[in-house]
Amino acid sequence: MSIHPSASRITFAALAAKKAAGEKIVMVTAYDYPGAQIVEAAGSDVVLVGDSAAMTVLGYDSTVPVTVDEMIMLTAAVRRGLHAPLLVADLPFGSYEASDEIAIATAQRFIKETGADAVKVERGGTTVDRARALVAAGIPVIGHVGLAPQTASSLGGYRAQGRTADSASRVIDDALALQDAGCALLVIEAVPAAVTSALMGHMEIPVIGIGAGADADGQVLVFHDLLGIYDGGAARFVKRYADLRGAMVSGVAEYASEVRSGAYPAAEHTYGMPADEAERLATRFAGRGRVGGVRSVG
Ligand code: KIV
Repeated sequence: MSIHPSASRITFAALAAKKAAGEKIVMVTAYDYPGAQIVEAAGSDVVLVGDSAAMTVLGYDSTVPVTVDEMIMLTAAVRRGLHAPLLVADLPFGSYEASDEIAIATAQRFIKETGADAVKVERGGTTVDRARALVAAGIPVIGHVGLAPQTASSLGGYRAQGRTADSASRVIDDALALQDAGCALLVIEAVPAAVTSALMGHMEIPVIGIGAGADADGQVLVFHDLLGIYDGGAARFVKRYADLRGAMVSGVAEYASEVRSGAYPAAEHTYGMPADEAERLATRFAGRGRVGGVRSVG
């Protein structure tokens, strides 16, 4: 594991200072070693190994099936590629909800086995108690309110939350409860901008929006969405900054075509051999036939 001196790391205090100074916080997901290097080189402050990995890199059709072991493997790979940004790991569905003891045991695995700086948990309700217990156990926690993908079916599917005053009040109450429980950061997903605006005046911790308008202290997007790698449908709030899937398919297609035509490998992709050695080799094998259809070399 490549752990760099904490002095070079972005801390929660640094994020709080950014909020105080009105500087936006940049958060993005990553799921592997090269992805971590890319998001760090691009200047991300916070890197989330989201359970969106279930869909973007593991091929599940929701975030629900991903396991602790799968998330730990991905988070450890991201850690190895990351130096300065703060690293947050999502606790997967079913790995923390049942009791404080289970939540602490799962979160401790992430911190010990991956080097993550913090864990993220979804929704209000009983999650607020889990968050409080994790904080009391010395584990930094990120809350996630609004659309909580792990329990999307109980929210009526992957859809915006807080579109009525009652629903918006529930989102805000969840956010405040998670702040009171000691969360260091809050993610708010898929709510009208007006809900975020109403919330912001009450939040002392940094708030990171995703589909929650421009008033949050920062924004987070899924790596595969913003780079156009993921083939699935994108939510309204996703902005595509590149079409890497198109570039990747055309690169592999060109390789396939050159293999078939013989254009690849060319001389510059091929190892040479001194002429006298090549001649000795040719002499050694001259006149040898094939044994059982396979050329005999011994
Ligand atoms: O799993 C994830 O990637 C997330 C972000 C969308 C915030 O939770």
